[in-house]
Amino acid sequence: MVPDIPLSNGLTMPQLGLGVYLVSDVAVCEASVRTALADGYRLVDTAVLYRNERAVGRGIRSSDVPRDEIFVTTKVWPSDYGHDKTRASIAGSLERLDCGPIDLMLLHQPVGDVRGAWRAMEDAVGQGIVRSIAVSNFGVPDLEKLLPYVRIPPVVDQVELHPHWQQPDLLPYLSQHDIVPEAWYPLGHGSRTLLAEPVIAAAAVAHEKSAVQVILRWHMQRGFAAIPKSTDPAHIAANIDIFDFELTAGEMTAIDALGRDRAIFRPPRWAMSVVMPLMRARPLP
Ligand SMILES: NC(=O)c1ccc[n+]([C@@H]2O[C@H](COP(=O)([O-])OP(=O)(O)OC[C@H]3O[C@@H](n4cnc5c(N)ncnc54)[C@H](OP(=O)(O)O)[C@@H]3O)[C@@H](O)[C@H]2O)c1
Repeated sequence: MVPDIPLSNGLTMPQLGLGVYLVSDVAVCEASVRTALADGYRLVDTAVLYRNERAVGRGIRSSDVPRDEIFVTTKVWPSDYGHDKTRASIAGSLERLDCGPIDLMLLHQPVGDVRGAWRAMEDAVGQGIVRSIAVSNFGVPDLEKLLPYVRIPPVVDQVELHPHWQQPDLLPYLSQHDIVPEAWYPLGHGSRTLLAEPVIAAAAVAHEKSAVQVILRWHMQRGFAAIPKSTDPAHIAANIDIFDFELTAGEMTAIDALGRDRAIFRPPRWAMSVVMPLMRARPLP
């Protein structure tokens, strides 16, 4: 059973979920969501950018799990920032997902009219169409700009986070502001170097688990939420089979020591500001 993480707004969020980035085949996406829900997952993470919200919604509606047990996350892309555009983006996500209020809506990137977008997110909470609101890829300077302005603070910051990139500057700030760190690339995007780390391999042998399961267990014990992506039913099942063992303090310390000084995904800031708002030009499916 996946534990729930308390959020600063009094609600909770499952600590582990399924990510569907780059799952563009709608049948595969729908089947992966259904498989994950049958295996016990209760959180699905999509985004307007991933172009698969309809498939996620169909996977949810065709599963045997009641909707009120499922936590649906999606995101607004910077091309849709600004009060009116963000309001329209949220309405579009609601229509495509077609499964009632959205549990968690994120601003996907810290570029463009973030403040206008945040106001629309706050309005959506007031209207009851979104339950919790949050950010993604916001660093300390981005949060310092946003937080003084908010009426409803973000409950989560979804960022690249795994043993090779542990966000040394951001995590203390998030903890201070009661913002839950949620890991994207929790497996380093399947990085072979990460999976082959000797201390991870040794823990895997000791607990009769895989390297992937050890990494996900490390996320859980560090208190992070994590959304590993898989379309392989065996991997989807393995990734939630991590609640029957515990890494020792020594193993946790050894994995903590793998942190490097650079993220895997690190586009230059100018590229984020210039290119990201221009992406997602095609009409959504
Ligand atoms: N907010 C953002 O800007 C942002 C950015 C990137 C990602 N995300 C979110 O984070 C999610 C996860 O990120 P990600 O998909 O890029 O990286 P990831 O979850 O770290 O890694 C996914 C890779 O690991 C493989 N994998 C998964 N489980 C495995 C297992 N048990 N054994 C072996 N290989 C396994 C997958 O292949 P198979 O499919 O073959 O299992 C895939 O190649 C995304 O789906 C998305 O929801 C958010």
